[in-house]
Amino acid sequence: MDQKTNIAALNEAARRFISKRGKLLIDGRWEDAASGKTFDVIDPATEEVICKVAEGGKEDIDRATRAARKAFDDSAWSRMTPAGRERLLLKLADLVEANADELAQLESLNNGKLVMYARMVDVQGTIDFLRYMAGWATKISGQTLDVSIGIPNTEFQAFTLRQPVGVCGQIVPWNFPLAIAAWKLGPALATGCTCILKPAEQTPLTALRLGELILEAGFPPGVVNIVTGFGETAGAALVDHPMVDKISFTGSTEVGKLIGRACMTSMKRVSLELGGKSPVIVADDVDPAMAIPGAANAIFFNQGEVCTAGSRLYIADKLFDKVVSGIADIAKGTKLGAGTDPSSQMGPLVSKEQFDRVLGYIDRGRKEGGEVVAGGQRHGNKGYFVQPTVFTKVGPSATIMREEIFGPVVVASPFKSVDDIAAIANDTSYGLAASIWSSNLGFAHRLAKRIKAGTVWVNCHNLIDPNLPFGGFKQSGIGRENGPAAIHTYTEEKTVLMSI
Ligand code: NAI
Ligand code: MG
Repeated sequence: MDQKTNIAALNEAARRFISKRGKLLIDGRWEDAASGKTFDVIDPATEEVICKVAEGGKEDIDRATRAARKAFDDSAWSRMTPAGRERLLLKLADLVEANADELAQLESLNNGKLVMYARMVDVQGTIDFLRYMAGWATKISGQTLDVSIGIPNTEFQAFTLRQPVGVCGQIVPWNFPLAIAAWKLGPALATGCTCILKPAEQTPLTALRLGELILEAGFPPGVVNIVTGFGETAGAALVDHPMVDKISFTGSTEVGKLIGRACMTSMKRVSLELGGKSPVIVADDVDPAMAIPGAANAIFFNQGEVCTAGSRLYIADKLFDKVVSGIADIAKGTKLGAGTDPSSQMGPLVSKEQFDRVLGYIDRGRKEGGEVVAGGQRHGNKGYFVQPTVFTKVGPSATIMREEIFGPVVVASPFKSVDDIAAIANDTSYGLAASIWSSNLGFAHRLAKRIKAGTVWVNCHNLIDPNLPFGGFKQSGIGRENGPAAIHTYTEEKTVLMSI
């Protein structure tokens, strides 16, 4: 098939799916919202309506949660062996793989991201992550522990069990809709939890397609429920529902704090993966030919709609002009267009709201004295396209230096001495990630220790692996996803002490 026919075929598969499914997955069945309401899903490249999906509300969340509760307490699922759960997760990964191109097309259409990245990063990441988590299902263990309790003529035996935490409410954002859904569903299903997934209102389509594949894989009814709807209604109802044991949230720090407070009141378990303002540090010993595309990709990948986006770029004095002009050239040469068009190099932002927010920050940056050396405007007059933008001359207290923009906007600043760079990098309320670009191994190791962030990359950025813990210091969140840490956050540890 040539490229054009291939795209047409994929579009056709995506369209077939879109035309038949806009419902909620509750207890193994596709249902309308109790209110009968629907909302529009928008193509951010054209601003046109792709389709309508059910607008789940409080009543739907209640039905979904009851189904999840029942499935957790008493069902084929609660009696399933770890190997059974592993097989189902592997089956699901196979089905995602078999439908990978269609899922990538849907993701690209709905979010605006490049279809190539949707396939290589989002969908491939989902497949790899589900397979990784499938492996954990059979490897969950407690410990046996010595005790020192001194009671005459009595011996003790102590051990711990790791048991699934229960019913999990999982609220995901729109920047990596399928992959983040998998990050939440994978460990929950590996450990034996049940789930209510609430996709972001902007991007419900791949979650719904995943729901079909979950049923096809053979997960029992009620194990995974999917309720599309808005944050303030469906999302809030999930957080407040008394039958939910744990909330896992990825999104804004603002909403994360609301959710954290609400979970504290009901003592639900909670993990929060929030915003960032990640520094990219370019030392004077690095090859600019590596650092320039590296730093550009750190911010421009996925239109900058990445929680770990390298939005604060600190460059050694000596290399400042060279690196800034290199990144500005990349920005100016980037071809913006629909993500579904394989010739595009950057897609639109996800929504009107995000488009306005990012343009607002660019405006603010100019007003606060920043100099725009590339971009700085919307692109075209249709679709939510924002030019990749490079700012210089921005002070440490300027809004665009402190707040998460979540768009293709980078602020570049020179630094004089490497002795100061850790303090400069840490001058933020966030702490999600950072990258160091240097050929000096000792420097990179020393700096990596000093940076207050959940992930530090050296000579790379935005690389994520299922086995590597991921999460934030400071206001970037609480808890870790991926790796064994994820298994821990979906289980409770129980101590059993026996007098023998
Ligand atoms: P948001 O935090 O409002 O939305 C994320 C998810 O939370 C969505 O599913 C939404 O429906 C849900 N939600 C919203 N309000 C809720 C509530 N009161 N209770 C329960 N769930 C709720 O993020 P939004 O408004 O889409 O984007 C705002 C900013 O957040 C972005 O500009 C960006 O800075 C940041 N963000 C960070 C992300 C990350 O990966 N850490 C992802 C998305 C946004
Ligand atoms: Mg919001």
